[in-house]
Amino acid sequence: MKRIGVLTSGGDSPGMNAAVRAVVRKAIYHDVEVFGIYHGYAGLISGQIKQLNVGSVGDIIHRGGTMLYTARCEEFKTPEGQQKGIEQLKKYGIEGLVVIGGDGSYRGARALTEQGFPCVGVPGTIDNDIPGTDFTIGFDTALNTVIDSIDKIRDTATSHERTYVIEVMGRHAGDIALWSGLSGGAETILIPEENFEMEEIIGRLKRGHDRGKKHSIIILAEGVGSGVEFGKQIQEATNFETRVSVLGHIQRGGSPTAADRVLASRLGARAVELILEGKGGRAVGIKNNQLVDNDIIEVLKQKHTIDPVMYQLSKELSI
Ligand code: F6P
Repeated sequence: MKRIGVLTSGGDSPGMNAAVRAVVRKAIYHDVEVFGIYHGYAGLISGQIKQLNVGSVGDIIHRGGTMLYTARCEEFKTPEGQQKGIEQLKKYGIEGLVVIGGDGSYRGARALTEQGFPCVGVPGTIDNDIPGTDFTIGFDTALNTVIDSIDKIRDTATSHERTYVIEVMGRHAGDIALWSGLSGGAETILIPEENFEMEEIIGRLKRGHDRGKKHSIIILAEGVGSGVEFGKQIQEATNFETRVSVLGHIQRGGSPTAADRVLASRLGARAVELILEGKGGRAVGIKNNQLVDNDIIEVLKQKHTIDPVMYQLSKELSI
């Protein structure tokens, strides 16, 4: 294999740049040329492809976002779109592709592999919702951004003796809410994977208030529902002064943490090794701090789950 491509796709995540850097440098280290595909699968279809050299990925390891830009692409979900992509890859003599992104990006990589074009997936999403890996690139940074916000909100919540609802990202996955809630000392954590009883939440808030607690913090994953609506319900049911903060896309930006940079470097380099070993159709990951790779078809068949022990612990520590 003499030429490979790399693209980032779906929602960006801090550390994607570090992963692109690792792919480019690892390939060049092995005398393989690397082509960057800009704007994800949309750019693949329209041929936004440029050769990258060692210097192209200089000064990006510490930057959030992705230098290759990203997009969500409907056309690439069709066989026609995928064929156009393969034609572009062939035009440039590219023989393997590293795809950095979440499950939507993996579906594109699976489709290309099924059509005979070898791809390897690298998990890049703040949601931490890719099966087959303990962590995805960007999760740790997003988590630290959320904790920073919780700590700040806690200060003002205490001063004003208020209840706060903090809405965090995660349409289908509660990892950001669970991990940030646990590490931010939230009283209540609401995630899409677990049902909850409103009476139980109200009861806990009231008990805390009677015990003399100065504030309460509720972390709600966006997939559970609107934080604003939830805040209104809490205020009505308790009569406690309640405020809502929706953190939004602030969670997707910022300089990646050391943990994300290291993870991205390891996973990006491993993806190149697999491509060079002729092992397409794989998804790299990390399990118990060891690099692993799984069949991308199997990864997409599985469903991400939260850690039930951690969820239980969060309940026990917030009595
Ligand atoms: O998949 C990452 C993510 O940030 C989710 O947590 C969130 O629900 C979604 O992307 C937001 O997507 P968009 O930026 O397209 O609004």
